[in-house]
Amino acid sequence: MKYTLAFDVYGTLINTSGVFNSLEKMIGKQAKPFMDTWRNKQLEYSFRRGLMNKFVDFSVCTKDALKFSCKLFKVNLSNAQKEALMDEYKVLPAFADVKKGLQTLKNEGHNIYAFSNGSVNAVSNLLVNAELMHLFDGVVCVEDVQVFKPSPLVYEHFNKKTASLKETSWLISSNSFDVIGAASYGMKTAWLQRSSEAIFDPWDIEPTTIINAINELSIKLK
Ligand code: LAC
Repeated sequence: MKYTLAFDVYGTLINTSGVFNSLEKMIGKQAKPFMDTWRNKQLEYSFRRGLMNKFVDFSVCTKDALKFSCKLFKVNLSNAQKEALMDEYKVLPAFADVKKGLQTLKNEGHNIYAFSNGSVNAVSNLLVNAELMHLFDGVVCVEDVQVFKPSPLVYEHFNKKTASLKETSWLISSNSFDVIGAASYGMKTAWLQRSSEAIFDPWDIEPTTIINAINELSIKLK
């Protein structure tokens, strides 16, 4: 069976911890909690924007969350430092398992899409920079529906845009909220557990499968 695969981008294919080294140089020991707050706030802002019907480019959520984190941790980053961090977000690295895992799935004939809250432009640039772009059949983002994951409109948009059915499409994400959103809409789902400490939200909505690296999906699709 050939499936349509929707890969989440930030945190799933692309490692948002790529900013850690620069942050550590700027703020030392606070770098890890700062980075975690930055990421969590970025997502919270996207959820809130969705609820308020105030869609903006995902990069605005990222930038506002960076400003919040500076306030919370009482760190006085200059505008140039903030710009440097935002620029790094545009060239974050891929996780080590991604290229080979996607290549295997592509060789097996599945249709492979990047599917993100980020803009088509930002996501395409990330994938080009990480030398992954050739592995994708396309990039589907949320601009057209003007709302963020986990709105069901976003998953529906994915199926429309890729001319696929929810019954034969999979959402693969390390983000539990994304997996739950897609499962609730009716797609099949794989939770990519990127760390042993990652917790799947206990909502009584389970992923179809759990994997620790992308190549593990290949067996589950057979
Ligand atoms: C994305 C965020 C949710 O890429 O990680 O859509």
